[in-house]
Amino acid sequence: MSDRRWITNHTRDPYVIKAQKDGYRSRASYKLIEIDDKYRLFHAGTVVLDLGAAPGGWSQVASQRSGDSGLIVAVDLLEMDAIAGVVDLKVDFTEPKALSDIGHALDGRPLDVVMSDMAPNLSGVRDIDQPRSTYLVELAIDIADEHLKVGGSFVAKCFEGEGIDRLRRSLKARFEKVINMKPKASRPKSREIYLTGLGKRAASHL
Ligand SMILES: C[S@@+](CC[C@H](N)C(=O)[O-])C[C@H]1O[C@@H](n2cnc3c(N)ncnc32)[C@H](O)[C@@H]1O
Repeated sequence: MSDRRWITNHTRDPYVIKAQKDGYRSRASYKLIEIDDKYRLFHAGTVVLDLGAAPGGWSQVASQRSGDSGLIVAVDLLEMDAIAGVVDLKVDFTEPKALSDIGHALDGRPLDVVMSDMAPNLSGVRDIDQPRSTYLVELAIDIADEHLKVGGSFVAKCFEGEGIDRLRRSLKARFEKVINMKPKASRPKSREIYLTGLGKRAASHL
């Protein structure tokens, strides 16, 4: 698609128009709103890890729904403008430094929600992009093993294709309920879906 056609399509997109009107930084906010309206991930005081957070649409939703007593730790390779109640960390989540920065930001508070909207820079070659995306979700699961409290929730953007069944199995071993979500704001022709795990089991169930 040409750049000009992409811009025309983007500016006509109803979710882009709605995000501008509602004050959200990205149309992605409506994906999380739909997931949360259905499964109630957030409540007052929720502690959330938002992976791949920039420009901040998901962090805005999590912060609004967790209130003043909530804590959102937002991680991205890119700089993000500040949001009240959100600690943002500019770090590559695949680097060991990310784990120490996140541990420091949490300061011993266990997480209620781990959510990842991370997407690798797409090369356009499915055999390269698919394993990169799967790897990011596996790392998100690893950090949920360490910091997510029993009973907590997990949401991650995944792409239908090689490796997704492994991710589903991995989540089913860890969560009472695992759901495939294709929110309305997710473009129909995109292979993205959101795997959602509800009710983290005690580690002894692994
Ligand atoms: C689709 S965008 C996220 C949109 C965001 N959820 C929102 O609502 O505004 C995906 C993000 O993942 C980030 N990302 C990709 N790989 C990453 C990595 N290894 N570490 C941290 N962030 C990463 C990208 O920089 C990008 O900002």
